[in-house]
Amino acid sequence: MAPILNKPSLYTTADSALPLNVSDPLFENVLSEEERTKAADYWAKVAMMEHASVASFSRFSLELMSVGASTELLTLAHQAALDEVRHTQISLGIANQLNSTTFTAGSFPISRKVVDSAFGDMEKIATAAALEGCIEETLAASIVFYQAEHMGDPNHKVLLRSVALDEANHAAFAWRAVQWMASTSPEVHAAVSAVFSERAQQYEATPQTSSVPTLQHVGLLDQGTMTKLQHAAWHQVVLPTAVALGFLPSSFDSQTTASNTAPVADAIARALASCQRASM
Ligand SMILES: [Fe+2]
Ligand SMILES: [Fe+2]
Repeated sequence: MAPILNKPSLYTTADSALPLNVSDPLFENVLSEEERTKAADYWAKVAMMEHASVASFSRFSLELMSVGASTELLTLAHQAALDEVRHTQISLGIANQLNSTTFTAGSFPISRKVVDSAFGDMEKIATAAALEGCIEETLAASIVFYQAEHMGDPNHKVLLRSVALDEANHAAFAWRAVQWMASTSPEVHAAVSAVFSERAQQYEATPQTSSVPTLQHVGLLDQGTMTKLQHAAWHQVVLPTAVALGFLPSSFDSQTTASNTAPVADAIARALASCQRASM
């Protein structure tokens, strides 16, 4: 499902909830026009992904209802969808501020076939959540923490840090939901384990990538930096959590630690601890 962000000319007005001043000339003196366009396009693409995440959490809340999830998990799904609306607004705001555009969210293509496919199927819902939530959201959160740290504009730094914390909480929510679903049957547990085992092969080798300086102060990261961050988040957050929850054997555990993944690890650890206190 590819979300749509129409070209500025197709829109009537910019989103009224955008948190930034579109006419702010902040970047005019430090970025060339080409760089501003490149950065604005990047943030418009980020906005598309955030926009798609609103739909993902809306679908996930229905999927959770279809398999009898607790009201606590349903609350978290809806809160996460609202967070993604805010992330869309923030990303659109940065894109528009960078290039004086008026990008806003367009109509999202929703296929009935895709939406209906997993309802009531615990195994399908759990494996998708393990992949998209436990793994992808965890890796994404660590990247946004890094971006926030390197943003040049103090307002963007604060906004992105809040986005990163939300993403870490979304990952934690996915871990909680998957833990619950896996506890319902050995088959679901085995299917979730297979997702982690399969992905583990991808992260076995240390990445041989070099980092090229890019426009990190406006959020653009080169592929080498992205790969390193993803590997670090996999080894320092995803692996130990999957081992702790019994989805992978302890031979997979990683002993290394690094500060840039600590906020993600903390959010997940807190959520899982509260999950053990409440019986879900
Ligand atoms: Fe998001
Ligand atoms: Fe998210």
